[in-house]
Amino acid sequence: MKATAKAHTNIALIKYWGKRDETLILPTNNSLSVTLDGFYTTTSVEFNEQFTKDTFVLDDVSIAGEQYQRVANFLNLVRQLAGKEIYAEVKSTNAVPTAAGFASSASGFAALAAASTKAIGLKLDNTELSRLTRQGSGSACRSIFGGFAEWKKGEKDDGTDSFAVPITPKEHWDIRVAAVVLSSKMKKVSSREGMKRTVDTSPFFQGWVDSIPTDLAEIKEGIFAKDFEKVGQIAEANCLKMHATTLGAQPPFTYWLDTTVTVMQTVRALREQGIPAYFTIDAGPNVKVLYLPENEEEVQSTLRNIPGVTDVKLSRVGQGITYLEDES
Ligand code: PMV
Repeated sequence: MKATAKAHTNIALIKYWGKRDETLILPTNNSLSVTLDGFYTTTSVEFNEQFTKDTFVLDDVSIAGEQYQRVANFLNLVRQLAGKEIYAEVKSTNAVPTAAGFASSASGFAALAAASTKAIGLKLDNTELSRLTRQGSGSACRSIFGGFAEWKKGEKDDGTDSFAVPITPKEHWDIRVAAVVLSSKMKKVSSREGMKRTVDTSPFFQGWVDSIPTDLAEIKEGIFAKDFEKVGQIAEANCLKMHATTLGAQPPFTYWLDTTVTVMQTVRALREQGIPAYFTIDAGPNVKVLYLPENEEEVQSTLRNIPGVTDVKLSRVGQGITYLEDES
């Protein structure tokens, strides 16, 4: 009873920001992301009657504490679904530089969901898998699919209609994403805490929610038409709206550092020179820059030259989950 799966991380162009149910992980708005080829997690899960508890090894380190608990809680859902009381050994390898500010939880929970359900003998289609993955980490439900994917928030209270759907496959459009890594480390407000504080206290939150349907409809038009300026403009503006909600929260907070703003200004300056490039930022200080293949060199060297930028990692559009062959 062993299976191995690989899943890539994703970056949201229309952000998931706000939960309406924290236990089932049900969002207040639909979100849309692009799956990234460069950053992924490979996870093997073995269920065995001999095991007396779940174990979790990440990059050859045995994990305890909160990180372990999240994995064990997720395995409880898988066991429940399969109707089997059997423990698992989970081994993951992350090719997601945590310093790059990617939610490695996205590729992590997508790979865990795919490998664990296969290993325990469940036969889920990608919709069912996405719905289950959502309960490990919200943004992870989009990583089941490659290319562009949309997470439908759903209307029901039980979460059965809240899962991601594919928008276009990876082959549809070759856009690129540069992950700009900044030197400074600051104490982070987790996405969970940041969302909660914003939903509970920010007067800007309703404005954010109200603006989503138009952003979504327009960005999808842009993706289908491969209109890079349109997609970039909407993604950048949507990211700014998400971050604006945090400034209205009580107590107010921001994920940005001085270098975050410098990178944003540099991206705007690139546009003034005629190079189409757009930024987006998640719940952290690092910036992701969207650009086209023909501008790779210029974009990369410009970003690398910004003082305070320690690394720039490039990625293409990636595929959805894949299953790897097991030796045993
Ligand atoms: O799923 P989480 O808890 O990692 O939240 C992700 C939230 C953002 O990265 C800020 C936006 C998104 O849609 O990925």
